[in-house]
Amino acid sequence: MIESIKHRRSICKYTSDPIEPEKLQSVLEAARLAPSGNNKQPWMFIVVQSEQQRRAVMEVSNHQTWMMSAPVFIVAVADMAARSEADLAIFLDENSRHWELKRAIRDTAIATENMLLEADAQGLGTCWVGFFVQSEIRPVLGIPNNKFVLGVIPIGYPAEQPPARPRKPLSEIVRYEKW
Ligand SMILES: Cc1cc2nc3c(=O)[nH]c(=O)nc-3n(C[C@H](O)[C@H](O)[C@H](O)COP(=O)(O)O)c2cc1C
Repeated sequence: MIESIKHRRSICKYTSDPIEPEKLQSVLEAARLAPSGNNKQPWMFIVVQSEQQRRAVMEVSNHQTWMMSAPVFIVAVADMAARSEADLAIFLDENSRHWELKRAIRDTAIATENMLLEADAQGLGTCWVGFFVQSEIRPVLGIPNNKFVLGVIPIGYPAEQPPARPRKPLSEIVRYEKW
């Protein structure tokens, strides 16, 4: 597993080759199998393939034009309603303090990382794109205001092989027994 984790890179250039449907299914399956608090599975994924819809998503993602080389985007959405019995009709955005939202985001992040790793194992590249604001991306995809868009994941066959980006050493990020 550590070799797989080391192999993954964020990819910003893709070939025009289409993704085999079974590979895409496998990436989505990796998300489906992720762990979540109370096994609530508070996530939804939107597969975007049309040129028109990809362009609209790219434009609200701070015009990151490189995204268009990927044939598919998977949009990961945290659905806090899935964690709650009540119909929580509240407006959510980046400043929301709502605890259910945080839990849904946490769980959806786990599922999203599963997708990045499974895509890499399938020979596909991805890049988690988070440079957008909720109020702009939600209308493009028809997402209700009580969901939180966690990331757009362009996915396709890589047309670049970037070197590993640096990480902090363990000595900087691990402490033992207490803070
Ligand atoms: C939550 C999140 C948001 C990101 N947003 C963007 C983005 O909008 N555009 C982009 O080019 N890369 C984005 N990235 C990719 C990071 O820059 C990349 O993961 C980091 O530089 C480490 O490189 P690596 O993934 O190749 O190891 C994002 C990554 C994460 C986890």
